[in-house]
Amino acid sequence: MNLYSIKELLKKGTQCLNEKVTVQGWIRSFRSNQFIALNDGSGQKNLQIVLDYNNFNTDLLKQLTNATSIKVNGVVAESKGAGQEIEVIAEEIEIYGYANPEEVQETILQPKKHSLEKLREQAHLRFRTNTFSAIMRVRNALSFAIHKYFNENNFCYINTPIITGSDAEGAGEMFTVTNFNLNNIPKNDNGDIDFTKDFFSKKTSLTVSGQLEGEAAAMGLGKIYTFGPTFRAENSNTTRHLAEFWMVEPEIAFYDLDKTMWLAEDFLKYCIKYAIDHCKDDLVFLNQRFEDEQKQKPKEEKTEHNLLEKLDFVLNNSFVKLSYSKAIEILKKSKPNQKGKFKYPIEKWGADLQSEHERYLVEKHFKSPVILYDYPAKIKAFYMRLNEDGKTVRAMDVLFPGIGEIIGGSQREERLDILKNKIEDFNIDEKELWWYLDTRKYGTVPHSGFGLGLERLVLFVTGMGNIRDVIPFPRTPNNAEF
Ligand code: 4AD
Ligand code: MG
Repeated sequence: MNLYSIKELLKKGTQCLNEKVTVQGWIRSFRSNQFIALNDGSGQKNLQIVLDYNNFNTDLLKQLTNATSIKVNGVVAESKGAGQEIEVIAEEIEIYGYANPEEVQETILQPKKHSLEKLREQAHLRFRTNTFSAIMRVRNALSFAIHKYFNENNFCYINTPIITGSDAEGAGEMFTVTNFNLNNIPKNDNGDIDFTKDFFSKKTSLTVSGQLEGEAAAMGLGKIYTFGPTFRAENSNTTRHLAEFWMVEPEIAFYDLDKTMWLAEDFLKYCIKYAIDHCKDDLVFLNQRFEDEQKQKPKEEKTEHNLLEKLDFVLNNSFVKLSYSKAIEILKKSKPNQKGKFKYPIEKWGADLQSEHERYLVEKHFKSPVILYDYPAKIKAFYMRLNEDGKTVRAMDVLFPGIGEIIGGSQREERLDILKNKIEDFNIDEKELWWYLDTRKYGTVPHSGFGLGLERLVLFVTGMGNIRDVIPFPRTPNNAEF
């Protein structure tokens, strides 16, 4: 008996005719007391197991219910049914774990009948659905592609700390990490919390970005990237935000912003192409799902392209590159702005762009991914390089259809004096960043980098509508189940 995963066996197909094989998995359906659709998570397609009920005792047959796990020994035969090349004629069936249909909510395994929201409450059954298992396999392929891209381009993978003392983005949206007895927190004479008595003798938090440490590494290793969990305590209950997500952050010595924009585009296209080439079955399935979902939508919300066309479109077109100032001019004159349709109307230069504005530019005006650059210094982080005009910085955001911002990055301020002024302007305690300022003291160089939120990329490639459906265990306000 040769042991196969279902994906392997289906791939070999008729090469395995008459071979005695063992396969294992969970029953997706059992019909006519004869056909089992078996899935082991290795791929989108089920394997058909055919059994002659005269050869099996009725006790066993009764246990062949949806979600029950089994092992099958049998012989590979050509399939007479449509949609599959081969099937396995069962000789022996062993039950690993019976699932009582009255207890298992059967509909849970048929997402068409069940909402994605409901599935989020089912930690493990969720992984057995076609939709979620497809998303997880695409997520896996994208993660692998990310490492592969940077590896092929000579970047060094760096692990930056998860517990940190610095707020890289300066937005104050950090989760505190403490070892204090919360019922008896030490205070100093001013009545403030005395963090010198805490585990690290200072206030520490979960990281919002590995960038600052990544910069330190790039100042010796040249080209680095980080890829790890990232935490933000922003109370935004949107379909694009998580409190815990995975961020990829390349940082490159001697790169200016133009090279970094090119890198971001090349990198995104590489990852998307990798998923298209390696997740065919899953993307065909998700494309069907996307099309079905589109049919339910009102006309004005329907997209021009289906999922596969959308992915192809991104691969085959150059991203539009546009300055923030030009974007503001376009937005000011836009129909939704004139007609008061934006929730945040664009009145003047300096306004922070909301996702409604980003999506207008990408989906309505340019109908293409857009890279916006040279943003007002005031609405961006302290570390971005100041332009000659003294009011904009070398920032860039990559905006994608249906998503809005997928990447945020910048050329960094490498000039010590200007950086110090910025730190003061932003009311950041310079002492906390002594080690960061050191990178500008001893052999500073122009350098740049960006951050990609993995889940936003998975959202785009899978065509899903809510970021909670592309991460195994979502953490969002009021939700940290499992
Ligand atoms: O634009 P952000 O905040 O940039 C940084 O953190 C920089 N330090 C990156 C760098 O230059 N090294 O975040 C980068 C990306 C966003 O474009 C978005 O894709 C994702 O991280 N992101 C989130 N994804 C999910 N949930 C959230 N709450 C996110 N916040 C940011
Ligand atoms: Mg950003």
